[in-house]
Amino acid sequence: MCGIVGYVGDRNAFPILVNGLKRLEYRGYDSSGVALAQNGEITLYKKQGMVKAMEEFALAGDTSGSTGIAHTRWATHGQPSDKNAHPHVSNSGNLVLVHNGIIENYQALKELLQDNGFEFHSETDTEVLVNFIQFIQDQEHCKLRKAVRIALTQVTGAYAICIYDKNKPEEVVVAKLGSPLVVGLGINEKFIGSDATPFLEYTKDAIYLEDGEMATLTAKGEIDIRLIESDRAVNTQAHKLQMDLESIEKGGYDYFMMKEIYEQPRAIYDSFRGRLLAEQGIIKMSGLEEYADRFRNADRIIMTACGTSWHSALVAEYLFEEFARIPVEVEYGSEFRYRNPIIHKNDVVIAISQSGETADTLAAIKMAKEAGAMVFGICNVPGSTIARETHAGAYTHAGPEIGVASTKAFTSQVTVLTMMALELGKIRGEFSTSQYRALLNELSVIPKKVEKVLESKELVKEISALYKDASNVLYLGRGVNFPIALEGALKLKEISYIHAEGYPAAEMKHGPIALIDENMPVIVVAPNAGHYEKLVSNVQEVKARHGKVIAVVTEGDTEIVQSADHVIEIPETLEALTPLLTVIPLQLLSYYIAVMRGCDVDRPRNLAKSVTVE
Ligand code: F6R
Repeated sequence: MCGIVGYVGDRNAFPILVNGLKRLEYRGYDSSGVALAQNGEITLYKKQGMVKAMEEFALAGDTSGSTGIAHTRWATHGQPSDKNAHPHVSNSGNLVLVHNGIIENYQALKELLQDNGFEFHSETDTEVLVNFIQFIQDQEHCKLRKAVRIALTQVTGAYAICIYDKNKPEEVVVAKLGSPLVVGLGINEKFIGSDATPFLEYTKDAIYLEDGEMATLTAKGEIDIRLIESDRAVNTQAHKLQMDLESIEKGGYDYFMMKEIYEQPRAIYDSFRGRLLAEQGIIKMSGLEEYADRFRNADRIIMTACGTSWHSALVAEYLFEEFARIPVEVEYGSEFRYRNPIIHKNDVVIAISQSGETADTLAAIKMAKEAGAMVFGICNVPGSTIARETHAGAYTHAGPEIGVASTKAFTSQVTVLTMMALELGKIRGEFSTSQYRALLNELSVIPKKVEKVLESKELVKEISALYKDASNVLYLGRGVNFPIALEGALKLKEISYIHAEGYPAAEMKHGPIALIDENMPVIVVAPNAGHYEKLVSNVQEVKARHGKVIAVVTEGDTEIVQSADHVIEIPETLEALTPLLTVIPLQLLSYYIAVMRGCDVDRPRNLAKSVTVE
């Protein structure tokens, strides 16, 4: 986790660094800090809490300086505090470092350094790293770049680092292994970020460092990229960034989460634009076409992901098995990587990740590749590690998702996976043309239907006010809407801190029904397509025990509407596409409940947007 920003050039570094940190707060926000090069000295400002707290603290002092590095933290080693916040300075007072990742052998390195007289003032692995670099530099009497390189060959773990020496602040050294790092190339200035958002208004030319690479940056010079292991120079071309600034700002909404909920019609449309050609009755996905034979002949598909992305894989499991008749297994990245799974060469692995940086998903991909499987990635962030590590893939094109709770990334993942399921059904000859076309046509109008669901906002707000003080909430769904029950429960617990559980509705009788009394809200996802009659009975069972039922139903519902306490309607659609509509009221419900409980919706406690540590 954590976000890093750096600047070397002619401008005042502080505002660039602080604005950059604010954009990276989705990566962690328990403490932050800035180091500025000022007249041969390092000026350090660090504060527990959000970037704003550190900014206010720093503005009371001198914030001049045209080289600086900065960090926003999500604690791994040592609790959030001023002293554990980055940047960390070496014992000599010369070197200053920010780091995103985990140094796994930091304890052994710390003991070595302590034996050599080094002292530590924080509990972090980062302070060990900066001192280890200093230790190497003292021994080798070498330049910073060489000391960093030698030190990193002796480090195990993951890192993106940014370091400079107070005696040569015009030169900043960066390195990457397992955590993201991007360099922005301006005219007579360089920018550094965990992603490109900190420098979007200054340059669109960026270089994404690869694992095992380091670079030396000066304001005016060419960027010097080398392999850490061999010191061999690497020739890398700059990318032109496609993002714009407006897409990462709140645009009048109170929270990014609400903005992103409202962006879903557009995000879903963008994820099928140019791919779903409804008039011609075809789907064109280049990544899929390239590996059509592997998919056609696949014995099995394994989907791997974490959190909300894992829920979209569960939705896809129903669709792939239904339409393409391929057996699908859905695996948490974290479980898959550590349990010696059986992977055959004829298996196709689909890895799903909004950020493209989730450590467990990435490790699962590496393992599947080693076993000879073809790995297809579905990511939202262009150029992300997972996008680069997979053989082929499809971007979801949902645009930057900043709110920690995933919303538009989920619906765009489901859209892409739905198109894949349809196309594979066609490739494998499992589909009649009319069935295929009907689904295609219906998918093409889903954005309009999402807009319609969003009109229920005021109703959902009223319902939220009634249940905002609940201690527990149960979510029930069946078939393709069972994962939506899981997703609704996850959304509620992560942003409102209310305990919530999702269950397949029929499983209620095997345990959770014991929880139901007049204080228990039960959210039932009950569109008219698929298992509707069974859900009618489940609603009756809840009501018979005095539970409160909030049901998501299809317009014109006649049965559930009679027994539920509240109903929220979605437009009529085909069963396979209902998740794209039923999830929307659940996102709104969790949003309003969290806001009414005074929670910081975009930055829930203990969470970070990308989990780049295991
Ligand atoms: C929940 C949420 C997380 C992520 C999970 C995977 O709202 O956002 O559960 O879905 O951390 O992240 P990605 O998709 O970036 O791999």
